[in-house]
Amino acid sequence: MQMGKSAALVLLYAVSFCLMVGAGRAQLKTVLINCGTNSSVDVDGRRWVGDLAANNNLTVSPAPTADTTAALSSNTSLGPIYGSARIFAGGLNYTFQEVQGDYFLRLHFCPFTFDQYNANESVFGVAANGLGLLSQYSVPGDIATENNNGSSYLIKEFFLSIDSNDLVIEFLPSKGSFGFINGLELVASEDNLFADAISKVGGNSVNLNLSGRGMETMYRLNVGGPQIKPSQDPDLWRTWEVDTSYMTNVDAGYQIKNNSNITYASSNDSSIAPLLVYETARTMSNTQVLEKRFNMSWKLTVDPGFDYLVRLHFCELLFGQPNQRNFRIYVNNRTAADNFDIYARAGGKNKAYHQDYLDAVSSRVSTLWIQLGPDTATGASETDALLNGLEIYKLSRNGNLAYVGAFNSAQNTTNKSRARSLLAGIGAGIGSVLILAFAVTIVFLLRRRRRSEIGSKNNALGWRPLFLHGAISNTTTNAKEAAGTKNQNGSVASMRLGRRFTVAEIRAATKNFDEKMVIGVGGFGKVYRGEIEDGTLAAIKRAHPQSQQGLAEFETEIEMLSKLRHRHLVSMIGFCEEQNEMILVYEYMANGTLRSHLFGSDLPPLSWRQRLEVCIGAARGLHYLHTGADRGIIHRDVKTTNILLDKNLVAKMSDFGLSKTGPALEHTHVSTAVKGSFGYLDPEYFRRQQLTQKSDVYSFGVVLFEVVCARAVINPSLPKDQINLAEWALGWQRQRSLETIIDPRLGGQYSPESMKKFGEIAEKCLADEGRSRPTMGEVLWHLEYVLQLHEAWRQRANDAESSSLNVESSEDCQAAGGAEERRNPLFTGPDSAIGRNTEGNGESVARDE
Ligand SMILES: *[C@@H]1O[C@H](CO)[C@@H](O)[C@H](O)[C@H]1NC(C)=O
Repeated sequence: MQMGKSAALVLLYAVSFCLMVGAGRAQLKTVLINCGTNSSVDVDGRRWVGDLAANNNLTVSPAPTADTTAALSSNTSLGPIYGSARIFAGGLNYTFQEVQGDYFLRLHFCPFTFDQYNANESVFGVAANGLGLLSQYSVPGDIATENNNGSSYLIKEFFLSIDSNDLVIEFLPSKGSFGFINGLELVASEDNLFADAISKVGGNSVNLNLSGRGMETMYRLNVGGPQIKPSQDPDLWRTWEVDTSYMTNVDAGYQIKNNSNITYASSNDSSIAPLLVYETARTMSNTQVLEKRFNMSWKLTVDPGFDYLVRLHFCELLFGQPNQRNFRIYVNNRTAADNFDIYARAGGKNKAYHQDYLDAVSSRVSTLWIQLGPDTATGASETDALLNGLEIYKLSRNGNLAYVGAFNSAQNTTNKSRARSLLAGIGAGIGSVLILAFAVTIVFLLRRRRRSEIGSKNNALGWRPLFLHGAISNTTTNAKEAAGTKNQNGSVASMRLGRRFTVAEIRAATKNFDEKMVIGVGGFGKVYRGEIEDGTLAAIKRAHPQSQQGLAEFETEIEMLSKLRHRHLVSMIGFCEEQNEMILVYEYMANGTLRSHLFGSDLPPLSWRQRLEVCIGAARGLHYLHTGADRGIIHRDVKTTNILLDKNLVAKMSDFGLSKTGPALEHTHVSTAVKGSFGYLDPEYFRRQQLTQKSDVYSFGVVLFEVVCARAVINPSLPKDQINLAEWALGWQRQRSLETIIDPRLGGQYSPESMKKFGEIAEKCLADEGRSRPTMGEVLWHLEYVLQLHEAWRQRANDAESSSLNVESSEDCQAAGGAEERRNPLFTGPDSAIGRNTEGNGESVARDE
């Protein structure tokens, strides 16, 4: 019975495989080739097809013959596909059809002695659509040592972004030698696997355009956990190695494990790494020692003279709050990030999150150090670091991934030095005032030049040359000019993230820009509500066609939004840049602006807790802007109309049209013409035209007062001393009498202690000099504390109520929005003094029932 059943399953599997191939799908998911045989084998439910057998999607040329086939029964124990190999003494091509897109290519090698062939004497090269993967390659004699996991086969893994329909894997033995291959594995990846913006270590953020390029996987480690086998990563069949042997001092990091309820911070992250990776981690040892003065360090051998993508996987497994664990990340002794707070970045505990860095390794160095250590500059309660996973990818240079030492690098020297100076120019930002137009032009020219070079040299049609473009909007002093040049080239936007919409699609979504669909109007133009074709609601922002200012801001906003991703930043769905239209499509924020919930509308008032939560969310978004990207970003236009609320009243910062990347380390500010919104402007910025992140802190202080006073920041109809909210509120706060002017609709439903603390934070934010103001991280921390004060007070009040009146618990009170606090028995609670005081305002709603 059992046998019959499994045979039927295998048959079913084979039939469905044939159907799949026969249907001629646009992109093949997986192609597994068992080289040197006509028989197919199944491993972990996947079928490896013999390269001698006929296959619709694969041609091998010259056609393989029996005398190039090695039957290796002694290797079979290592894995069924290692029982045979293809041997070649001349060129051998495997051509896969219908494989446009992103793939992992794995070359399987398992050395042997067969007839006169000793695999350890082989020397050969491999190219994929002209991209050099291996050159003068010899499989190392002692694979088990090389591998670090004791297995005696070797898998070389590459990531290819294939532009053309076909993929040609070309094997070529070196003169007088031979080569071999046991298996070829091609696995399609999600195309968002490397779509994120990357921080250059010591530089800007860049978008990695992998189109037509390639990467080699150097390391993939499951930090603090066991090896993860391909079958445990069934999306992409990756192997995650144990990290122990790469740590310089294993005692520095102890392993922790937690497999409860881990989810991806972003729902489309599921193929980034399996959740297993996030279940284990290393944190710094010696938890009892408060002042930790060491790093956890991983030392990895790499090939000199290449750029490396470092992907770090994180998941906060212990702390349930931000600002508990802030640390520094170093790549090759340079700071890649400071004040790194996994909880804040991932938006919670048990959230799987990753962060990418890009670093160039000089031609004299063959190690890459990854170090995580304390950030003593921050006020975090734990100077501790945590890491769950680590991946290192080598990026191709000039159509090449192979490293062959000094041997034949001479012929490439001119190409290489040019590429290096290009990268240095974009990346290091020497002087940091590289004009954008200039950079774009150079990149464009170079790109054209190299494309034609490569095209003529080796006719590698499918591959486009190395092309990195930086987040350049920050380096320009004249955004208008810059944006103009970019558009002239026309191609920059197409390389950004996000979907490109046609004008027709936008017209359909907005009922041809129907005025009834307008949900907002700004300096930039109108914002429409729209429904894109899958039914998703979106906010569609259309620039005034003639607006030059709009054009520059449009570009900035796309640049910014495509490299930023955070729970408290509005995310961009796509854009439309066609027929002179400049349109941005955002996620729809059902509850509109924060301002509309404070005054000037008939929306119900927000409770104190809701207001605090909104402020905390916005602060977290800004904190991320300031610290998340490598050099930080200054929003420049923080105000209550730029804080949007989604359907659950989660606050998100929006409108990055005026944003600037923060100052480089050697400078303390960015010089710039004054922009921003009246009433929120930092007076220091106004005086000195110098922009720092503290300018955002000032504006955020004004927001805090606006939230608690619920009035416009500038109201010319009021008496002179009241026109400017910041001045007026600060006056009352300095006399410790803020409660005199707070929104009467709060109706005394707040903890007086929390209100006192809140006023103090706002006051500190409005300090005249930037350096006296707190950082956004500190503001965030204090606001969290304010919320705790308020919650504790509410809890006490509820306890008092349930003990005296015996009604339902506080849990029930939390469900409903604005109404929840009305049931609080404020005036019978222990801290009733302020409650009574405010009751005098006649606006109390507490006794409504
Ligand atoms: C951690 O490593 C970095 C980079 O190598 C170094 O600058 C720093 O001093 C180290 N920190 C400690 C506490 O050893």
